[in-house]
This record gives sequence, C-alpha cells and structure tokens, in this order.
Amino acid sequence: LADPSFSRAVIDWQRRHGRHALPWQNTRDAYRIWLSEIMLQQTQVSAVLGYYARFLERFPDVQALAAAPVEDVMTYWAGLGYYTRARNLHACARRVVAEYDGVFPSDPALLADLPGIGRSTAAAISAFSSGTRAAILDGNVKRVFARVFGIDQYPGLKPVEDALWRRAEALTPAEEGIESYTQGLMDLGATLCTRSRPDCPRCPLQDRCVAHATGRTAELPVRKPK
Ligand code: ADE
Ligand code: SF4
Repeated sequence: LADPSFSRAVIDWQRRHGRHALPWQNTRDAYRIWLSEIMLQQTQVSAVLGYYARFLERFPDVQALAAAPVEDVMTYWAGLGYYTRARNLHACARRVVAEYDGVFPSDPALLADLPGIGRSTAAAISAFSSGTRAAILDGNVKRVFARVFGIDQYPGLKPVEDALWRRAEALTPAEEGIESYTQGLMDLGATLCTRSRPDCPRCPLQDRCVAHATGRTAELPVRKPK
C-alpha cells in the first residue's frame, strides 16, 4: 500500500495550488488549530470564517474558553449548527486546562481521548500544531481515496473503513511535509475532487485515479445502501 509518489504529488500540488492564507494556517497554536478543525468538521470554510474570528476575539485562549459559562459558548456558536460540537468544545477546553495545564497534548492518541476529537481530527491537530506524522481520513479524504483506488463498496461499512484507514496510514509521509500533505488532501477533496463535479484535468492524482480512468467519478464513492 505504501507509495511515496502519492504523497509527493499531493505535497507538490499543495505548495503550488493549495490554500495558504486561511486564518488557522501559518500558526502552531494548537488552540487555534483545534478550534478551526472542530468548526470545519461539518461546516464549509466560507461559513466558518466569520464565526472563527468572533469566537477568538471573545475566547482568545483555552483558559478563557474553559472559564466561560457554556451559555456564552453557545451564543458564539449560534448559527453554525451541530451544537453538540459546541458543548464538546467547552468540555474539551476544561479538560485541557484541568489535565494538561492548558497545553494541548501533541500525541494524537491523547487528543482523540478528548471530547469532540475523533481519530482524523486528532491527526490533523497534531500534524498542524506539532508536525507529528499522523493519518487523516475525513469525509473528503474518503471520497478522494474511493475514487483514486476504485473502492467499489460503501465506505461507511466497517471493514471498508478499516481498509481505508490502512491505506491512509501507509500513504502518510514522514514528518517533513506532513503539514503540506495533510492540508493538501483536505484542499484536494474540498476544491478539486468535489462530490458532484470533480475537476480531473487539474488534479495531481489524475494519472493514477481509477475513477477517472474508468469514467466512474459519478459512481464513486458508492452511496449508502438502502
Ligand atoms: N477542513 C477541515 N480542516 C481544514 C483545514 N485545515 N483547512 C481547510 N479546510 C478544512
Ligand atoms: Fe478526484 Fe478526478 Fe482527481 Fe480522481 S482525477 S482524484 S476523480 S479529481
């Protein structure tokens, strides 16, 4: 499953064509990175930008967030939806202050034990905040992998998801380049390999993509069986 040319292609594309000026980039502040990743879990970048700025103005660090009443957090979250995220965010801030003296751990396994942080989000936070080698597999990355590797089963099935995680782990590069690779996979899925109109001519994975080669971009990933 390992293939260094895969990460090379993603990293080179990210450096030339990916996004570099989002407000949560160009920082190693784990608090800012964590907040962005939670907001971006179910919400597009364009919708997150304003909320992110207002939230950071009111809660500039994890101590400020932990000290606030949860009702204040809900007020600043109102409109973003998926409100469990906001309750978990507040609970997570309180745990980071109580258990880690306000410093987010860099180990993805420790991050994934905190409220609201799943395996992929933990990996993204540790890659961006400490350059740790850790594999991501969010909805966008699942779609890219399902197409590139021609996975013809629904990716929500447990064995299929397990196999995707094994691929994700094997394809993740060494620590140098991990940030570009992680951001590059996210940017590819969000901007090129979109659900309904993938822009294959501009894609750095086109020459290895099974869905493109076989004209199945509209059929992959396989939809949830009824
Ligand atoms: N979606 C999830 N994480 C993201 C990030 N760091 N940048 C852009 N979109 C994202
Ligand atoms: Fe997605 Fe097209 Fe790139 Fe394949 S070639 S990964 S379908 S954008």
